[in-house]
Amino acid sequence: MSNLNKNDLPTLLVTGGAGFIGANFVLQVRKFKWANIVNLDKLTYASNLQNLAELQDDTNYYFIQGDVNNSELLSYLLEKYQPDAIINFAAETHVDRSIISPHNFIQTNIVGTFELLEASKAYWQKLTSPKKEKFRFLHISTDEVYGSLSSTDPAFREDTPYAPNSPYSASKAAADHLVRSYYHTYNLPTLTTNCSNNYGPLQFPEKLIPLTILNALNGKSLPIYGDGQNIRDWLYVRDHCDAIYLVLIEGCIGETYNICGMNEQTNLVVVEKICAILDKLAPKDNFQYSSLISFIKDRPGHDRRYGIDCSKISKNLGWKPKENFDVGLLKTVQWYLNNSAWVDSVCTGTYQGWIKQNYETR
Ligand code: NAD
Ligand code: DAU
Repeated sequence: MSNLNKNDLPTLLVTGGAGFIGANFVLQVRKFKWANIVNLDKLTYASNLQNLAELQDDTNYYFIQGDVNNSELLSYLLEKYQPDAIINFAAETHVDRSIISPHNFIQTNIVGTFELLEASKAYWQKLTSPKKEKFRFLHISTDEVYGSLSSTDPAFREDTPYAPNSPYSASKAAADHLVRSYYHTYNLPTLTTNCSNNYGPLQFPEKLIPLTILNALNGKSLPIYGDGQNIRDWLYVRDHCDAIYLVLIEGCIGETYNICGMNEQTNLVVVEKICAILDKLAPKDNFQYSSLISFIKDRPGHDRRYGIDCSKISKNLGWKPKENFDVGLLKTVQWYLNNSAWVDSVCTGTYQGWIKQNYETR
């Protein structure tokens, strides 16, 4: 089985490429001229076309607004652009939203992935050699499918049994199983990555790190669920994008790869680090941002710890995270400080409605 070759300038159909990780990936791919990109995105609340503004004159980048559930559109795009690979980022991604209204998570994450697999299978089966052998379907998943660890449990490995605890992680787990089944049943050349928490530029401020930065700058309280001792393994988004491209080019078909930050932190420590950075970058007289920290009612079913063993990708493909957490966090805070137009464009009435719904009723 031959692999995709970056020197051939492959065409990638990326779904969800206007969201946080997808947009960082698309920008990175086009910056280094790794591939041509066709970006299919529904443009939900979590997306932002400003993320991709610098590509407006790029003739090797195409954007299509559409839904992964639209099978006719998928078939049309596959026929038109003849991609060499598909990378599925499209998803509903916020755990708290999945607890309050899970319906969209089932529709996009499970049914949408199914529709994409069906369309990809039909397209791939008609391809001829050598394009058929090189074709890849890369599914972007999460460490949350493995469930929750205690402080002494060993980290998640690729063979850790799935035990998802939220409607979000259950929907991602279901999608992963569908991807696996299309490899085993139809030989569709799939790859799956399961990554830990990402942070960095372009993240929608419903997630802990950007929410903390923006609330702090606006003098609002910094909400920490429960006792603040839940642990996540934080990875700088550009390191994740490098790993995704490496898996696409060099990964072994039918396999899954864990991607980690080698950087487990309690939520309280993360928020305190952001406050310390802001004390330096945006100081206020006689005021420390940490005074805004407020412990609030816990997330239902809140996973205690994610820890992810990424020795497989490290050993087999030679990847490991490059960014140091303190430096990555500093860059992230600086990015939000420098991009007030982006911030204003996402902190709309709809966003304020979400903040009210999730925090005021706790
Ligand atoms: P995001 O919420 O920032 O972006 C998701 C994108 O998908 C948005 O642009 C949205 O418009 C698009 N989308 C949603 N429904 C769609 C549909 N039906 N059809 C087409 N497009 C649709 O998400 P993210 O944080 O960038 O995550 C991207 C992927 O990575 C997801 O699959 C997520 O599960 C996975 N992941 C995220 C993290 C993380 O820490 N953010 C970690 C591991 C894995
Ligand atoms: O682990 C990978 C996952 O990371 C991705 O699959 C998800 O798409 C992504 O959203 C993220 O899930 P988390 O639930 O871990 O991320 P979030 O930023 O929502 O929360 C991080 C931690 O901070 C978690 O323990 C909950 C806590 N938290 C979150 C928010 C929004 C708070 O204490 N207060 C908050 O206001």
